[in-house]
Amino acid sequence: MNLLVVGGGGREHAIIRSLKKNPEVETIYALPGNGGIAQDAVCVGIGATDIENIVAFATENKIDYAVVAPDDPLVLGCVDALENAGIPCFGPRANAAIIEGSKAFSKNLMKKYGIPTASYEIFTDLDAALTYLDTAPIPTVVKADGLALGKGVIIAQTREEAKQAVTDMMANAKFGKSGSTVVIEEFLTGPEVSVLAFTDGKVVRPMVSSMDHKRAGDNDTGLNTGGMGTIAPNPYYTEDIAKQCMKEIFLPTIRAMKKERRTFKGCLYFGLMLTPKGPKVIEYNCRFGDPETQVVLPLLKSDLLTIMMACTNGTLAKTPVRFARKHACCVIKASAGYPESYKKGFKLTMSDRAAKATFVAGAKLEDGKLVTSGGRVTGTTAVRGTLEDAITAAYRLSAGVKFRNAYCRSDIGQKALQAKK
Ligand code: AMP
Ligand code: GLY
Repeated sequence: MNLLVVGGGGREHAIIRSLKKNPEVETIYALPGNGGIAQDAVCVGIGATDIENIVAFATENKIDYAVVAPDDPLVLGCVDALENAGIPCFGPRANAAIIEGSKAFSKNLMKKYGIPTASYEIFTDLDAALTYLDTAPIPTVVKADGLALGKGVIIAQTREEAKQAVTDMMANAKFGKSGSTVVIEEFLTGPEVSVLAFTDGKVVRPMVSSMDHKRAGDNDTGLNTGGMGTIAPNPYYTEDIAKQCMKEIFLPTIRAMKKERRTFKGCLYFGLMLTPKGPKVIEYNCRFGDPETQVVLPLLKSDLLTIMMACTNGTLAKTPVRFARKHACCVIKASAGYPESYKKGFKLTMSDRAAKATFVAGAKLEDGKLVTSGGRVTGTTAVRGTLEDAITAAYRLSAGVKFRNAYCRSDIGQKALQAKK
């Protein structure tokens, strides 16, 4: 089989490595992929949102199955376009990807179907939002409605800060059209858990839970990033909580989407907060998380391609989805300065052992050699019998990944270790 994967980060590298394990797979094309992915797939210089050329490429190259990984092509209808051209796909159609594409949509969906989430108000008028903030409980959370590269969420500790955030979004178009509608919601507290789930629109098969580390610095200090590391499973996510989430959140969400005639097929990401009043949804993503995927897929024992195709075909109920009862830790190495400005173009080298454990996010090939090309550069994952060992091994392996301005957090997994104790 010839496969196509749309996207070019660490997540896509992890997906491609897992897909390659299926003996039926002949060639995997990555659009656009990256310098590291080029070790495992044929990278083609077509951008992830260039839907017209993606479809043309897939048709010309007789692609048997496509996987659309990032949020923007999903929200823009890449799956619709590929399926309309007769190419079966993993991922939701645009009318279901809206669950991530519009926070106003997802909040209204949760309210309508009684799915636990932070209470909220939606505004399309700046003055109304500012007036509301005169009396809203503080701290409060201001969110741009649309996609904003993970930067559209402001936790405001004061009214002034909240007002500045809505003004930036609504009047100053800080996130373009994404911020013309804002959601202002209740500030929740509690441990956060990421749960990715396979679904064919009828059945949900949650993957092993994980914990992201979003802040740039140790002990959760500094700016929010795309994620500086992950561990799986998440120790806060007990079996009882998992059962509760299935009953109160996962199944109701899938059923709600079906009822709204927006059947969701693919990977649905539940960003959860375990509040004193029970688990609540912080956000939905219409795709695999990054770097969550870099710890979750290395623990998957069942065949990824078989599961993905079952999601497409509606046969997930009879398809096994099994995970190893082990622990994984992923350490991200980023360019110093990320998530703000940073230098790139530095030579990236990896020892053989490190390379086998590393997913490349931001590097390109120049004269056959890897050079850094992004903020997050690599994610190095170790799987071991205990969390402690997985953390130690991930850091040891990641020491074999070298580039000039590299930085990583030194405490990935420490919060989870404390929770276990
Ligand atoms: P999101 O992009 O929606 O995942 O939000 C980014 C981060 O902001 C989340 O991972 C949480 O840590 C935090 N956050 C979002 N919504 C809330 C909320 N209602 N209460 C507290 N923290 C929140
Ligand atoms: N790691 C968070 C995300 O993928 O959105």
